[in-house]
Amino acid sequence: MISNLALSVPKNSATEARRRDFSSSGLAGLLNKPLRPHLFFNTERLGPDVSLFTLFQMKLTIIGSGYVGLTTGACFAEVGHEVMCVDNDAKKIETLLRGEIPIYEPGLADLVTQNVAAGRLSFTTSTEKGVDHGDVVFIAVPTPPNPDGSVDLKFIEKVAREIAPCLKSYKVVVDKSTVPVKTGEKVAETIQRYAPEAEFDVVSNPEFLREGSAVADLMKPDRIVFGSNSDRASALMKKVYEPFVAPLLVTDINSAELIKHAANSFLALKISYINAISEICEASNADVELVAEGIGMDSRIGRSFLNAGLGYGGSCFPKDIAAFVAISDQLGVPFDLLKEVQKINRRQLDRFIERIREKLWVLGEKKIAVWGLTFKPNTDDLRCSVAVELVERLVAEGAEVTAYDPKGMGRIGELAVGSKIHLASSPEAAAKGAEALVIATEWPEFAHVDFRAVRDSMLAPMMFDGRNLLDPDTMRRHGFDYHGIGRGI
Ligand code: UGA
Repeated sequence: MISNLALSVPKNSATEARRRDFSSSGLAGLLNKPLRPHLFFNTERLGPDVSLFTLFQMKLTIIGSGYVGLTTGACFAEVGHEVMCVDNDAKKIETLLRGEIPIYEPGLADLVTQNVAAGRLSFTTSTEKGVDHGDVVFIAVPTPPNPDGSVDLKFIEKVAREIAPCLKSYKVVVDKSTVPVKTGEKVAETIQRYAPEAEFDVVSNPEFLREGSAVADLMKPDRIVFGSNSDRASALMKKVYEPFVAPLLVTDINSAELIKHAANSFLALKISYINAISEICEASNADVELVAEGIGMDSRIGRSFLNAGLGYGGSCFPKDIAAFVAISDQLGVPFDLLKEVQKINRRQLDRFIERIREKLWVLGEKKIAVWGLTFKPNTDDLRCSVAVELVERLVAEGAEVTAYDPKGMGRIGELAVGSKIHLASSPEAAAKGAEALVIATEWPEFAHVDFRAVRDSMLAPMMFDGRNLLDPDTMRRHGFDYHGIGRGI
């Protein structure tokens, strides 16, 4: 069943445009609209005296105040719901209560501060208090990978156990964490086991937030999906999402769970597809950027997620693709296509390092500047960052790496490689005296440096652009020996 929650459904204009300048965009810029919910409605359908906040307000609880939980909680509060975020990490809750945000996500800090001040967003370490508060209880806890790629669901199971005795009236328990198909059934079984009398329904409500644009993705989503086997739960879920202008797809629980894995793996497939093409471009002296442009102009294909580079990383794609492969194997339906997607992704970094090695001959003792450490721009997240893996591998071969990242340097010290590299205060400072410059993350500001000055400050002007951020001809005119991905040899 597909329905529209509001009267108009604007097409989400967010694109993956590589050279988009994030730096000047505040939250309003990201959304291209002011923040208040009345601007998302056709207000004519409401009487003049109706308060939108009162009309749509629901009591919601989010268990797990990490990246997804906190952003979701803040956005729900922003549209008028009364939200309580729960986390068992007392330090994190203290930080949040002090008004500090433990992660960098554009627009999130303002949203949290404003909604705490307005009394719509609160934090607690008490699951009991949280469950008491909400009519709908979202589970947004981590689902880390097991060594074999399958998902470790121990945190989900623990939350199910913990909330069971707290269910004193009817509640909708919503799984927002990314989980393998059939997890909803397990959550329901678990709650039932520990609280046989409890009145509840389980719903699956996958999130489609991208780090770096999570607030915009949540406030103005392409679609909202939830899976429910109960009319009572579905009615409440529709109310939760009523303030958001977006097409709504309601499915059964298993389909909703599959939609999340299928969506992420399809996006990863697009990336690996263009990366495989990039290898063919290198072998045939063609330009992958032009090929991506040409195929992307077909509206059936689309240009987004066709940016060739060092491959996908982050806390979602590598884990989710491995999990989808594992659950498909368990279901007796091996997903070989996805195994190839993973292989291509790994090969992309191998090929890049091989290219650097080929040009520098020996990496040992070479001074290499690396621009970018985060897994993508506009985040401080280093988890499963291909840029970090690249640095680790360069260091392992004896290279002397000096890195710069606009947001990721604060966290590099938490990783073993952090103590083995130098950190610079600017991209220009990182490049000084280097024998090669590597672009590992496509932060827009890297395109706006004084390249002549950078070239003059380097020992040898060799440039390896792992994200095709820069124009090869321009860089060659500036005197660089430029090497991109899939741009001929
Ligand atoms: C991804 C999905 O895009 C979200 O829809 C989803 O909700 C989220 O995972 C999740 O499961 O929670 P995210 O991991 O934040 O979001 O980042 P993406 O923007 O998707 O990028 C993932 C990786 O792919 C990055 O390393 C990026 O550099 C790489 N990428 C992306 C490419 O190499 N080429 C592209 O064309 C696009």
